[in-house]
Amino acid sequence: MLYRQLGCTGLQVSELSFGAARGAKENPTQFIHTVRACIDAGINFIDTAADYDGGGSECVLGEALAGHDEVIVETKYRPYDSWPPEAIYNGSPEALIASAEQSLRRLRRDRLDILLGHGLRTQESYDRFMSDGCYDAMVRLREQGKVRFIGISELSEGDGTHEILKRAVPSGAFDVVMLTVNILLQTATESVLPLCQEHGVGTVVMMPLNQASKQSGLVSVPAALECVRHHVAEGSLPEKMPYTDPNLFDFLQPHSVPDASLRYVLAQNVSTCCVGMRTTERLAENLTVLDPPYLDPQRLATIKELFGGIQCQVR
Ligand SMILES: NC(=O)c1ccc[n+]([C@@H]2O[C@H](COP(=O)([O-])OP(=O)(O)OC[C@H]3O[C@@H](n4cnc5c(N)ncnc54)[C@H](OP(=O)(O)O)[C@@H]3O)[C@@H](O)[C@H]2O)c1
Repeated sequence: MLYRQLGCTGLQVSELSFGAARGAKENPTQFIHTVRACIDAGINFIDTAADYDGGGSECVLGEALAGHDEVIVETKYRPYDSWPPEAIYNGSPEALIASAEQSLRRLRRDRLDILLGHGLRTQESYDRFMSDGCYDAMVRLREQGKVRFIGISELSEGDGTHEILKRAVPSGAFDVVMLTVNILLQTATESVLPLCQEHGVGTVVMMPLNQASKQSGLVSVPAALECVRHHVAEGSLPEKMPYTDPNLFDFLQPHSVPDASLRYVLAQNVSTCCVGMRTTERLAENLTVLDPPYLDPQRLATIKELFGGIQCQVR
C-alpha cells in the first residue's frame, strides 16, 4: 500500500480507502470482517457519516475499529432534512455539535479525526452553513480538540462542476474536501484538484465507480454502457458513435471497467480514492490496481477525449 499526503494535515493516508456508506446494517459481521481485512491490507482511512444506515455505519465501525486508533476516520454532519438534491437546509450549530458528540460515542473515540459538512449542494445553503454558526461550531470543536480537521463534501448530482468547492477551497476555511472524480465526471481534474494542491487542502475522492448499482455504473461493461445511455438520454453525451457502440469500453482492456476506473482516479493528483466494498473478495480485487502509474497515457487520453466533456453526474 502506498500513502499520500492529506493536504497540509500532516496525515499520510492510504491511496485506497474504505467507504462505509453501505453494508453495515445489512450484514454487520461481513462489514466488520471487510473493515479488518482493509486494515490488514494497509488501508488507514475510512469514510463514514452520522446518517449512513441511520448511525449504524458509525456504530458497527466503532466495533470493528476497537484497538485500531491509528485508523483515520472521517465522518460527517448533514445540514439537510433528506438526501435528494432538492432537500431543505436545516443546519444549526446545536445540531452539528450534537451530531459530532453522537459520532464520538458511536465510533467509541474521544476525538474525531475529520468532520465534514455533508453534501453541500447549493451556493445559498453553503452561504448559510458558513454564516449561521455551523462553520464556527466546527472550528470550535477543532479548537477544543474534539475534532482534528474539518471540511465539506459536495453533492455532485447538483453541482457537477464543483462550483461550491471552487469557492470553499481558496477561502482557506477547510483542511479537507470530499469530491467526485471518476471516468464519467472528470471536471475536478482541471479545476478543483489544482486549487486543492495550491491551497494545501486534502482531497478524498468519493464515488470512483460513479456510486454504482449493479445495473448502472463503472462496475461492468453492461452497467457502464447503461450509464452512458443515461447520459445520452440526458443530453450530456451525443446519441451517435462511439457512444452507441457496445464495444465503447474495449479500449480499456486488459483492464476491466472497475479496475480501469479506480486506476483512473489513482492516476490523478488526489489524496485517496474512497471506494465502497461490501466483501473481502471486492477488497482483494481492488488491491490489484495499486501499481503506479496505474494507467498508460494512451488510455488516459482516450478517457479524456471520450468523457472529458461531461459536466454533470448521471447515474
Ligand atoms: N456526498 C458525500 O459525502 C458522499 C456521497 C457518496 C459517497 N460518499 C462516500 O464515498 C464512498 C464511495 O462511494 P460509493 O460507495 O457511493 O460509490 P462507489 O465507490 O463508486 O461504488 C461502490 C459500489 O461499487 C461496487 N464495487 C466496488 N469495487 C468493485 C469492483 N472491483 N468490481 C465491481 N463492483 C465493485 C461495490 O459493490 P459491493 O457493494 O457489492 O461490494 C459498491 O456497490 C461511500 O462509501 C461514501 O463513504 C460520500
